[in-house]
Amino acid sequence: MNRETHVFHTNREDLERAAQLLREGQTVAFPTETVYGLGANALNPEAVKKIYEAKGRPSDNPLIVHIARLEDISQLVTHIPEKAKLCMERFWPGPLTLILPCTDRVPSAVTAGLDTVGIRMPDHETALQLIALAGIPLAAPSANSSGRPSPTTAAHVLEDLSGRIAGVVDGGAAGVGVESTVLDVTGDKPMILRPGGITREMLQELLGPVGIDPALSDAGIAPKSPGVKYTHYAPKGTMFLIEGEHDVDKIVELARAARHDGKKVGILAAAEDADAFRSVFSEEEGAVILEAGSRHDLSTVASRLYDAIRTFDHHGVELIYAQTYSEEGVGLAVMNRLRKAAGHRVIFS
Ligand code: TXA
Ligand code: MG
Repeated sequence: MNRETHVFHTNREDLERAAQLLREGQTVAFPTETVYGLGANALNPEAVKKIYEAKGRPSDNPLIVHIARLEDISQLVTHIPEKAKLCMERFWPGPLTLILPCTDRVPSAVTAGLDTVGIRMPDHETALQLIALAGIPLAAPSANSSGRPSPTTAAHVLEDLSGRIAGVVDGGAAGVGVESTVLDVTGDKPMILRPGGITREMLQELLGPVGIDPALSDAGIAPKSPGVKYTHYAPKGTMFLIEGEHDVDKIVELARAARHDGKKVGILAAAEDADAFRSVFSEEEGAVILEAGSRHDLSTVASRLYDAIRTFDHHGVELIYAQTYSEEGVGLAVMNRLRKAAGHRVIFS
């Protein structure tokens, strides 16, 4: 498809028009509390196919189905384990996707042929209204071109998908900034397949022990969540993570050397260290310094991460040096995305 992508606002009339397009089998991107999603009727295989085409997404990577009311789940799953019920009560609407055994009503285009389906109820007024107005569950992956950072604004969506999708609902910036936690509740022990907005600590408090898919920390094991294996969130430049106590000095040294070679350099700094970098490099010198957020509030890092990666691209940065964060709470999701963005290139200081 190559036609104009319509930009809708969040008023009732616009949402009804967007919902109409979805009912007709078109794709429309919409805001959620995590990132923007690219929606299509989850029960219509032809509509779902358009998502894969627009994104250039590999077809073995299943989609998350978004619902607005708990009743909507009965047509999608064969049964709901007790632990899943507890999660729904506590965390829905919210950034938690539950992997559940699916019915035949869910097309294999959504599940990529698996016998499970990922479902979530987003905690976002506009998303909930749009799903309710459309009257259908919406399959929606992040609304980026496959491999690019997930979009946290409508502008990011248009940057990647303009002319390839029927519309986008502009609801301002997404809040959480990293995607939902994907939790497999089909086995005895709940397993995190992708860390996200609902943390392992929060889940364990409710459910007892919660595992983490070993593939997340070992590149040699095939992940249970197919999407996790692909290169993701990648900037156009090459990114390195700098770990250890002397990270500021190390980054200054590396950035100076790269500047010396005539490279355009980016530094993704914690709020606490940004001034230290700014006092060494000025922008005219070809170093772009962006603040990721505070070490003391990792939710700020989560919410700015993808926008920062896209901003480095806009500046044509060739090499990016990023500081790293604690893996507590949402830090686990932040570090998971940073490692992937950096293609697992880590330098110790
Ligand atoms: O926050 C989010 O989850 C966003 C917003 C739009 O809701 N969506 C999102 O979708 O991140 P996507 O397609 O970018 O990522 C979906 C992830 C992939 O890693 C996929 O492999 C996994 O969920 N997934 C979906 N269905 C699955 C299933 N049945 N079994 C295992 N993993 C599944
Ligand atoms: Mg994605």
